[in-house]
Amino acid sequence: KRVELDTKGLKSFVQSNELKEIAPMVQTARDLLVHGTGVEAKMGDWVNLPDEYDPVEFDRIKDAARDIQENSDVLVVIGIGGSYLGAKMALDFLHGSFFNLEGTDKHPQIFFAGNTISPAYTADLLRVIGDRDFSVNVISKSGTTTEPAMAFRIFKEKLIEKYGQEEANKRIYVTTDAKKGALHDEAIDQGYTSFVIPDGIGGRYSVLTPVGLLPIAASGANIDDLMDGAHEAQVALKDAPLYENDSLLYAAYRNILYRKGYTNEILESYEPHLRFLAEWWKQLAGETEGKNYKGIYPSSAIFSTDLHSLGQYIQEGMRNLMETVVEIKQPASNLGIPANEENLDGLKYLENTTMDEVNKTAREAVVIAHTNGGVPNMLVTAEDNSEATLGYLIYFFEFAIAVSGYLNGINPFNQPGVEDYKQNMFALLGKPGYEERRKEIQEQDNE
Ligand code: PA5
Repeated sequence: KRVELDTKGLKSFVQSNELKEIAPMVQTARDLLVHGTGVEAKMGDWVNLPDEYDPVEFDRIKDAARDIQENSDVLVVIGIGGSYLGAKMALDFLHGSFFNLEGTDKHPQIFFAGNTISPAYTADLLRVIGDRDFSVNVISKSGTTTEPAMAFRIFKEKLIEKYGQEEANKRIYVTTDAKKGALHDEAIDQGYTSFVIPDGIGGRYSVLTPVGLLPIAASGANIDDLMDGAHEAQVALKDAPLYENDSLLYAAYRNILYRKGYTNEILESYEPHLRFLAEWWKQLAGETEGKNYKGIYPSSAIFSTDLHSLGQYIQEGMRNLMETVVEIKQPASNLGIPANEENLDGLKYLENTTMDEVNKTAREAVVIAHTNGGVPNMLVTAEDNSEATLGYLIYFFEFAIAVSGYLNGINPFNQPGVEDYKQNMFALLGKPGYEERRKEIQEQDNE
């Protein structure tokens, strides 16, 4: 198996009868998802995506990625939330921490914009691009989100300034809804190359659609392998019963723990290039489950770094935490500890080990300390950092989190809370059509 769940760190927290007792509920939640009988089932198309994606669109993505690689030193990917985190997570997972610094012969540097309104960040990025050749992939399902729309204006202006309107239009790649939204309409009007975010797939479940696939392909990664890995997961996880299904087991255990008061889950890794895997997972879990004033609060940590900061709280702070560690069995690289006769640093005892062994031993030591300190621990092991394993891991988490949502009696596929702030921002900035809302906010302010 490319991805496995180990629950040894739950021994003193979950008794064997508890899994049996929650099993029928997990099965029901899984059926709601897989049979499309749950709330907002129309947003569950990602469940069968690895089997059903459009091969023509897939080839168009590869062609666009090739064009970008050939004519651009930099690709600016504009998007926020589900239109950003999946691609960023995938690039880091597959290529490591220093991808953008490792030469641009075969792939462009890939930077992200439109996930912040910070003028400093945006100006810095414009400066980094300088007068080099670049293209833009702007991604927004609604096509109206303020942050990416603003960033798009700014980078579009730079493209036009540099290349003129006609050539600029050829360097703009749009990923948006098939039929509606300002971005969709502009793409038609200007003849941009466009890709479709399928109707039945929401932002946080969209990394295996053109949303993630175009930037991932442009980075030189193999998107066929990525989809094959996701397909392997679909075959292994969609229909397998709870006791043979690590994704469902993960959903079951985190919900057993949640119901006992372990309301915060920390997704952890000992690999810095998995930092954005946790950021992606936080959106997936937080936007799916945090509704009706309930749901596990998703957070994250990178170890060893955070052992020297959050580690204290995890060991001895409030006992409402559970930990899920994602470990890569075979890391992309390994290093030996160099021999040194003088042994001034006292590390001689490590000379026959590798950094990976020490890293994994740190993980073991932490699990013992934290479980003794009252923090339940689950371990998700991913085989390696290949495209296929990433595809599998994406499906593993998406499936588990959507099942968790149904298990907790909420709608896993909406995000009314996110919409609230978007509408308020439109109203406060004076967008036409939001006058009523603006009045309401002003009245609330004056109370
Ligand atoms: O998961 C979601 O649906 C959201 O986080 C969206 O991805 C995010 O708000 C961006 O929306 P859009 O793609 O419409 O610009």
